[in-house]
Amino acid sequence: MEVLGIDIGGSGIKGAIVDTVSGEFATERLRIDTPQPSKPAAVAAVVGEISAHFNWQSAIGCTVPAVVKRGVTMTAANIDSAWIGTDAKSLLEKETGNPVIVLNDADAAGIAEMRFGAGRERDGLVAILTLGTGIGSSLFIDGRLVPNTELGHLIIRGKDAEERATDRARQERGYSWKQWGKRVSEYLEYLESLITPDLFIIGGGVSKRYQKFFPYIKCKTEIVPARLRNRAGIVGAAVAAIDLV
Ligand code: BGC
Repeated sequence: MEVLGIDIGGSGIKGAIVDTVSGEFATERLRIDTPQPSKPAAVAAVVGEISAHFNWQSAIGCTVPAVVKRGVTMTAANIDSAWIGTDAKSLLEKETGNPVIVLNDADAAGIAEMRFGAGRERDGLVAILTLGTGIGSSLFIDGRLVPNTELGHLIIRGKDAEERATDRARQERGYSWKQWGKRVSEYLEYLESLITPDLFIIGGGVSKRYQKFFPYIKCKTEIVPARLRNRAGIVGAAVAAIDLV
């Protein structure tokens, strides 16, 4: 079954039709810059453009970098704060004329990893962390998602973990792989002391360079890099929307 997956990020809005059986893209990926300011109406217009580009008349799964409850965005990270309290589901359905499911970006990435990637056939408690501009988290217990966890915002040494363990922090602060790897380790060790997972999956663009920083990670939990990388958001969004078809 094919579903249109769309990933709304702070700098780009990306979409592709996904073969939800194989987890592969059935089309090229289309990327359009996120409008600035990234207010709901402007972003929704781009989602409408992507849907029209694919001539799409069926279900759409769409990620946002926000907590989403019953289609309403409750927070806003790297997108305009006007998203807080917006009924994103209704807005995007009106704009595209299609049924839409809206979900948190890290939850979507987790869904894709569990079905097609590093979490395949893994039970117990799996925590997926995306280390990018922010830290996104998704938690699965025996394959079932516990949505909207915001574990990237744990406080470490008096600071939001995002200030220490994101790829953005690494680049902006010029951390070496060792310095940054130790900060990621401190974050993961704290997290494992709170939730005792069976597996950590590390995603985000930086995960392809996992060999550079995994050697500095000292947590007890098994840790593996994500496999779908920048496909994860789109693929997970599409899988989440299967029930709408
Ligand atoms: C947000 C999360 C989001 C993550 C990745 C965090 O700052 O609080 O909702 O999943 O960034 O975009």
